[in-house]
Amino acid sequence: MSAATAAATATANPFAQDVGERLPEPSTLVLFGATGDLAARKLLPAVYDLLADGQLPERFRVVAVARQGHTDASFRERVREAIAAHARHELDDALWDALEPRISVVAGAFGSPELFGDLAAHLDAADQENGGPTQRLFYLAVAPAFFADIATSLCEAGLGRGADPPTRLLIEKPFGHDLRSALELNARIARAFDESQVFRIDHYLGKETVQNLLVLRFANGIFEPLWNRTAVDHVQITVAEDLGIGLRAGYYDRAGALRDVIQNHALQLLSLVAMEPPASFEADVVRDEKAKALRAVRAPDPACDAVRGRYAAGWIGGEHVPGYRDEEGVPDDSRTETYAALRLEVDNWRWADVPFHLRTGKRLARRATEIAIAFKPAPHLPFRDAGMEVAANELIVAVQPNEGISLRIAAKVPGTEMRVRPVQMDFQYGSAFLRESPEAYERLLHDALLGDPTLFTRADEVAEAWRIVDPLLAAWAADDDEPEPYEAGGDGPPGADELLAREGRAWRPL
Ligand code: BG6
Repeated sequence: MSAATAAATATANPFAQDVGERLPEPSTLVLFGATGDLAARKLLPAVYDLLADGQLPERFRVVAVARQGHTDASFRERVREAIAAHARHELDDALWDALEPRISVVAGAFGSPELFGDLAAHLDAADQENGGPTQRLFYLAVAPAFFADIATSLCEAGLGRGADPPTRLLIEKPFGHDLRSALELNARIARAFDESQVFRIDHYLGKETVQNLLVLRFANGIFEPLWNRTAVDHVQITVAEDLGIGLRAGYYDRAGALRDVIQNHALQLLSLVAMEPPASFEADVVRDEKAKALRAVRAPDPACDAVRGRYAAGWIGGEHVPGYRDEEGVPDDSRTETYAALRLEVDNWRWADVPFHLRTGKRLARRATEIAIAFKPAPHLPFRDAGMEVAANELIVAVQPNEGISLRIAAKVPGTEMRVRPVQMDFQYGSAFLRESPEAYERLLHDALLGDPTLFTRADEVAEAWRIVDPLLAAWAADDDEPEPYEAGGDGPPGADELLAREGRAWRPL
């Protein structure tokens, strides 16, 4: 869609009137890792899409911190290519002409002390040339080993705690490698920036469907009486991917599925499902409730609450794909899991004895992220005599793809006989709203520019999430057994089915 069409659609769209657009203060976005994959695929396109949607302030600049050798001209060309390849809006000449001169490069190595002095001088000079001070956002899309050092150096250059004009620090995942390293990282960052300046990214929180969980629960009165152990039998959270690890072996082989997805995305989804209603949507009120929910999660027992797997060769979409150990860059003796399934319990009055089953994996049958709230069966079924099985109700939040919500209910099959069959009541984003959803990174960048931290994970949430997965990480690292193999293109390892079968339950088919 061109920017002009987008603007026209926005005015024609009746829902647009409900969306109060807030404009950020004049800002400079400083990108560390500006020549990396995330910047090209997500961050730079998100900047352009925000611009095309009229969501950026008049005075807005992008400063790339890049290795020696990059120039304004060479980096601008990269940005142009990234936008053309990945932005939602088509590259529009007039918009690009407006954006291009606002992009500049400061070159140097992250470890060099001069870099941060140069950066501070560059930011001051740019502000002076462009009409006055702007708030500064430092986005760390770099290897995690650099997070703390960059934060410290920024602070030493007068750009951290107490900086004027104000600054914020945006940090990509992974935030830590385990509980100890996450606490250490939190402590080092806290010395350089105040927690109110720190925005830890979990891009799942930027997804429309994930935010809609809050609306589903807290703007609809009918769910609250059912949202507890009285009515809910169990909850399933699935983050399934059909893709493999691509060219990310270097990162992935040290992370594995538990760190890569469960510790952050899946546990964030759990916290939104399990949290108590917040008194308001103020950032810390919401995050207090999420943190409380995570705090109530009992750490799983590695012996009986978790299963790990690793994909073997198989077929996906008619194509033969290699097993994990045969992927480029993966060591032959790797013991990293590409699949993890967990059974968790939330020890509080609302959820006692309701299992939360979490699973994630690469190279599964299809890409599907969903939350399934499985309700208890009706207490008495008068139809049983007719030999009928009636499936219990299920509320499915499809996070992606086919974003929407559906409720499974039993309905009578038309005809003279009393026959019952499950049917779905569906809400689909695609057909209900005329508006195209922004990408997660657009929403998160915009919120960070506005200084709204609601959709960012706070230090205590990150620590709680590590506390939950830590025993499994330790047990799996100490275990000489290999992860259980599963065929690429399948549903995951048999052990994951057994995990649920033991309690008389089953995963939803992928
Ligand atoms: C990232 C993980 O955080 O999330 C990736 O590092 C994973 O391994 C990705 O593929 C999934 O994100 P999405 O938005 O495609 O569901």
